[in-house]
Amino acid sequence: MPVALITGGSAGLGLALATALAGRDDWDLLLDARGRPALDAAARLGPRVVTVPGDVTDEAHRAELLEHAKGFGRIDLLVNNAGALGPSPLPRLSEYPLPELESVLRTNVIAPLALIQLALPLLTRTGGTIVNITSDAAVEPYPGWGGYGASKAALDQAGAVLAAELEGTGVRVYGFDPGDLRTAMHQNAFPGEDISDRPEPATAVPALLHLVESTPRAPSGRYRAADLTAGAR
Ligand SMILES: NC(=O)c1ccc[n+]([C@@H]2O[C@H](COP(=O)([O-])OP(=O)(O)OC[C@H]3O[C@@H](n4cnc5c(N)ncnc54)[C@H](OP(=O)(O)O)[C@@H]3O)[C@@H](O)[C@H]2O)c1
Repeated sequence: MPVALITGGSAGLGLALATALAGRDDWDLLLDARGRPALDAAARLGPRVVTVPGDVTDEAHRAELLEHAKGFGRIDLLVNNAGALGPSPLPRLSEYPLPELESVLRTNVIAPLALIQLALPLLTRTGGTIVNITSDAAVEPYPGWGGYGASKAALDQAGAVLAAELEGTGVRVYGFDPGDLRTAMHQNAFPGEDISDRPEPATAVPALLHLVESTPRAPSGRYRAADLTAGAR
């Protein structure tokens, strides 16, 4: 049975992906998030779901996640989905509080890389897949999105270099930009605004699964849900 480790699996895109995989009954799932009630609810998605509460920036928590994965004996899919937006409303870079920037970088860049480092022996054994959830803010200079965007750009570049370094190992490294989604993070980016026109997170899942499961396997690289949607139908 393949094993997927999905960070931030209690809400938004992570929960939507976990719900889809749990519904298929052919994946063991390992999910984390900081908040207990929502993660406990995610644990009830199915009998093959294991939840580990904690913060991805916490080294001990990451080690605990890997201990669980070792219990399964494998990792086939690592989805670095948990992310930090930074302060809301989004500050301009000229006034960005630097401790907040450090925190965003810890969550969006350091923690995903640390998890990849820990998971690589298991991922290499299975010829597994790493998905780093990225954003158009990594490539577009939207005012206010500098901290978050710089962190996602760094995540993209780390993924690209890893892909080059892992050439020939069978491991794929994808950046996946889901597009705008109606989630708590998105609402925080647009405080007080009506975001009901944004698509539900589940709408991005078919494109993500299409990327992960395509045969022959898609080359490592950066992909947008919008570009994958036709193939995912
Ligand atoms: N929504 C969008 O429009 C959009 C667009 C492009 C990219 N993205 C990316 O998509 C990913 C998911 O975002 P989302 O919109 O689905 O967010 P969301 O609805 O706010 O959900 C975020 C999930 O991650 C968990 N999480 C956050 N920080 C964490 C941490 N430090 N350690 C462990 N878990 C953590 C949250 O639970 P706890 O808070 O309980 O920990 C929750 O389960 C992010 O990487 C985001 O940057 C989102």
